[in-house]
Amino acid sequence: MTRRDDRLALAHRADALGLPDTGRIAVLGAIETTLYGLLGRERFVCQQSDRLIHDLLAAQGLAVAPDDPDRAEAAIVVATRNRAETLGMVARALAIVPEEAPVVVTGAKTDGIDAIMRQLGRVLPLEGSMSKAHGRVLRLRRPAQLPDAAREWEAAAALQPNADGFLSAPGMFSHAHADPGSQRLAAHLEGRLTGRVAELGAGWGWLAAQALALNPAVESLDLHESDARALEAARRNVPDARARFHWSDVTRLGAEPVCDWVITNPPFHRSREAEPALGAAFVAAAARVLRPAGRLMLVANRSLPYEAPLARAFREVTPLAEDATFKVILAGRSIKG
Ligand SMILES: C[S@@+](CC[C@H](N)C(=O)[O-])C[C@H]1O[C@@H](n2cnc3c(N)ncnc32)[C@H](O)[C@@H]1O
Repeated sequence: MTRRDDRLALAHRADALGLPDTGRIAVLGAIETTLYGLLGRERFVCQQSDRLIHDLLAAQGLAVAPDDPDRAEAAIVVATRNRAETLGMVARALAIVPEEAPVVVTGAKTDGIDAIMRQLGRVLPLEGSMSKAHGRVLRLRRPAQLPDAAREWEAAAALQPNADGFLSAPGMFSHAHADPGSQRLAAHLEGRLTGRVAELGAGWGWLAAQALALNPAVESLDLHESDARALEAARRNVPDARARFHWSDVTRLGAEPVCDWVITNPPFHRSREAEPALGAAFVAAAARVLRPAGRLMLVANRSLPYEAPLARAFREVTPLAEDATFKVILAGRSIKG
């Protein structure tokens, strides 16, 4: 689930990183790598907004936070699959290191690191690059004068209103507009929800906003989301006193059965591959947090195999709607695992 990048350690051994011998090294989008141990864990200040990877790094004794450190002597950027997001991280890295400091960017070929290198090389001094482990590590030096492009990259990766008027940013799930699956689920929400509600995997908050607007009888809505940036967007997109925001790993939600309703459009992958176990873990988490009479409403791609996990966790499973792409399912009478 977590991406380990020993490309960095390989490049360090080949003397290709050019990191200073002393001083703090910021890692934006930090993931596991043996480089931390090679250079000394205490030198690294890691940024990671994904709760699962954040907690994994913290458990290894690293200093890690969802926000960027305010300064460092050098920086490493771990490219994501979204180019605008990666360029935004490079701009943020350039902003926290001094003139002449190295900024290293590492990424997989499948995440487009070669195209990113070409784009960076057009406006920044590219000091070297090394092809390793199905990817590339490249090294820039922070110029005295930052190029205009860096400001543009930062602005393009920041929260901004999308087609539905909600704040979101590249790299978030369905950032350009409300997800069609969530729209299908929202069509079944009006007047249905009551009491204490939880949304599992709330993203930037579109579905939560609909749930609250369509259901005056909801007392509270707990939005659970693993991506701290998406959760911050949701906080701003859902200015309703009934909403509460949790930076959480849904798969580890406790067993307190306090909810009257759970709504979810569960994730079906974190990497490129489909991970049916992740959606199944969301269904199991829903069963844990629901009161005996509580109900789950879920939307999923029609082809995804939710029937078995639903049957394991609930005694009553009722299809509400199905079209060529999505299915909306209502489940009740949970079986606590
Ligand atoms: C299919 S999206 C739905 C997002 C949102 N509800 C919407 O309608 O746009 C699933 C969301 O679950 C989040 N997610 C993935 N794994 C998670 C986990 N283990 N715990 C909490 N949230 C998770 C993702 O970041 C993503 O925002």
